[in-house]
Amino acid sequence: MTAPARKLFVTTALPYANAPFHIGHMMEYIQADVWVRLQRMRGHELHFVCADDAHGAPIMIAAEKAGLSAQDFVARIAAGRRQYLDGFHISFDNWHSTDGPENHELAQSIYLGLRKQGLIGERVIEQFYDPVKGMFLPDRYIKGECPRCGAADQYGDSCEVCGAVYAPTELKNPYSALSGATPERRRSAHHFFLLSSQRCIDFLQEWTAVPGRLQPEVLNKIREWFTPDETGRVTLADWDISRDAPYFGIRIPDTEDKYFYVWLDAPVGYLASLKNRFGKLGLDYEAYVADPAVEQVHFIGKDIVYFHTLFWPAMLHFSGRKTPDHVFVHGFITVSGEKMSKSRGTGISPLRYLELGLDAEWLRYYIAAKLNARVEDIDFNPDDFVARVNADLVGKYVNIASRAAGFLAKRFGGRVSDDVGVEGRALLDALRGASEPVAELYEAREYGKALREIMALADRVNAYVDQHKPWELARQEGQDAALHDVCSTCIEAFRLLTIYLKPVLPALAAKVESFLGVPPLQWADAARGLSHGGPHRIGRYEHLMQRVDPKRLDALFEPPADAAPAEPAAQTLPGGEAIAATIGIDDFAKVDLRIARIVGAERVEGSTKLLRLLLDAGETGADGAPRLRQVFSGIASAYAPEQLAGKLTVLVANLAPRKMKFGLSEGMVLAASHADEKASPGIYLLEPWPGATPGLRVR
Ligand code: MSP
Ligand code: ZN
Repeated sequence: MTAPARKLFVTTALPYANAPFHIGHMMEYIQADVWVRLQRMRGHELHFVCADDAHGAPIMIAAEKAGLSAQDFVARIAAGRRQYLDGFHISFDNWHSTDGPENHELAQSIYLGLRKQGLIGERVIEQFYDPVKGMFLPDRYIKGECPRCGAADQYGDSCEVCGAVYAPTELKNPYSALSGATPERRRSAHHFFLLSSQRCIDFLQEWTAVPGRLQPEVLNKIREWFTPDETGRVTLADWDISRDAPYFGIRIPDTEDKYFYVWLDAPVGYLASLKNRFGKLGLDYEAYVADPAVEQVHFIGKDIVYFHTLFWPAMLHFSGRKTPDHVFVHGFITVSGEKMSKSRGTGISPLRYLELGLDAEWLRYYIAAKLNARVEDIDFNPDDFVARVNADLVGKYVNIASRAAGFLAKRFGGRVSDDVGVEGRALLDALRGASEPVAELYEAREYGKALREIMALADRVNAYVDQHKPWELARQEGQDAALHDVCSTCIEAFRLLTIYLKPVLPALAAKVESFLGVPPLQWADAARGLSHGGPHRIGRYEHLMQRVDPKRLDALFEPPADAAPAEPAAQTLPGGEAIAATIGIDDFAKVDLRIARIVGAERVEGSTKLLRLLLDAGETGADGAPRLRQVFSGIASAYAPEQLAGKLTVLVANLAPRKMKFGLSEGMVLAASHADEKASPGIYLLEPWPGATPGLRVR
């Protein structure tokens, strides 16, 4: 504890500025915040910063859809951050944006540094270009038919039907997902970071191998990237770091219309946020980042390891900067075993959690109790949540104070005895002895172990209370001193446990500090007694923390009674998506649903997804003859054409006809399916009860 203070520069990943936070973000922030708070309590000097990741094509496109400038769009998202961060007690020292001036300047300077080292190359590449939008198309905005199986509407990188992986230029009949236009192939000069150079490979192999720098699982992953080929050579591909205008990003120096790819300037945002903070504080940024004593620590999720362990250290090193000391990688959080996905929503909304009046520290405790130093996924399980919070936090920890505080106040004027007898002293010594081991567990991000250790100490305190029965001592003559000892021991034990829990429960600790009448607790306070420096009086005991009422937690998974969820997909149904926004009956009436008979069904050549249906919805043509409709339906994986002929189903009869490659589709038949067809296949065509006839309206 007399070791000199460390200098720590700590970040979490910069969230994309295109959506509000989900529980995965909060998990990352809680993990980092617990670590940071421990360091601060240990007297270390620390800057904990983050920023919005503002750039890139998806944000540019989302802004356009919202009818906003990219800057305004990002500013709106940024304005929503505070309530989450404050709400969950995330103690960032600074929040900035990768579109800030510091980032423009730093990203350009890093690029110029790399160029000076001869590590930037230019190469002409051919890409799809959307002539209607006037822009090159990122892979995910190109769709077409799978080059292997021919399935329609597949994305530019892989086929959801047959699993083939390919380049977007291999798609058959490609079209732009933005405009529907057929993309052209155009050539353009791109800038590359020459990671394939031996210098880069040598540096990265050395950097990643520094003992203790990366977790074992992360190292294993990296070893795969460094596997030598048949000729015994390790190769890395050059990294394409430029994008052509229009692009929301940072201009590449000495070009008119080229911008850094978002992942080039995103990590630079760590430095930009730090620099922004130093500017506000009037501190010397250059001196700080050059200081060899500063430890640079990044908390990130497992999906972005490549960027942080290859590109980022290389960018820093070859532009003459210090490299990260640690990249701490965590797994993903699931909710009741369900993965979160952008399309299916986020399981539970952190904001709704707060709006329902649920205690932010319950979630901090629960998540911390599940975290360890490995790259493991964790699951939010509501029953488990209730059990852990109620049993540990309320039942074991808070309970200690409530058992002792009343007697101390009523019988001893709140005065805490500083000599608590042999047994009390032995208990307190054991608790004090845990100070370093617990700190080490936090330091190593073994929060689950740290909390188990702390709860085991709480168990010992409760056993001591049960053994000495203060409620009985209080009724016996001549036992005042013993009662005073037991209650004083409890309060001191409670103070020690509070120190150990404070990184996880900062707001609760603040309440305890005011109840105990002590200044903000530091880690070193564990070595000192409550009444060191003279007799101590505690304040009035106020209720510290409620139990979780499972019913209130249930509300987190239900849509609000009178409205659609405020955030997209605040809850996920078994179908994998949230209930859509509320509509009125008039909106519904616009959809004309009719009973239709499938009079013919056949496979469509060139498509594995589609069946061509001929439907009789009771309509007649101008000549009075029955009119049949042709509908292409994506149900080929679920039904053979022979199964369908003669069946009744439901047709959306007033859907605008759509011209498809195979012909005109005049409507749509209704079928049920999971939002994520891959995770949960199965398509179920709707069929009316017997008696319905073609042409009847469904309402
Ligand atoms: N903008 C990039 C990061 C740039 S860092 C220079 C990005 N943004 S993100 O919003 O998609 O993710 C931000 C962080 O949240 C990442 O570390 C990511 O791994 C983490 N998580 C996203 N979903 C998560 C879970 N379900 N669980 C835990 N963390 C998750 O990536
Ligand atoms: Zn395919």
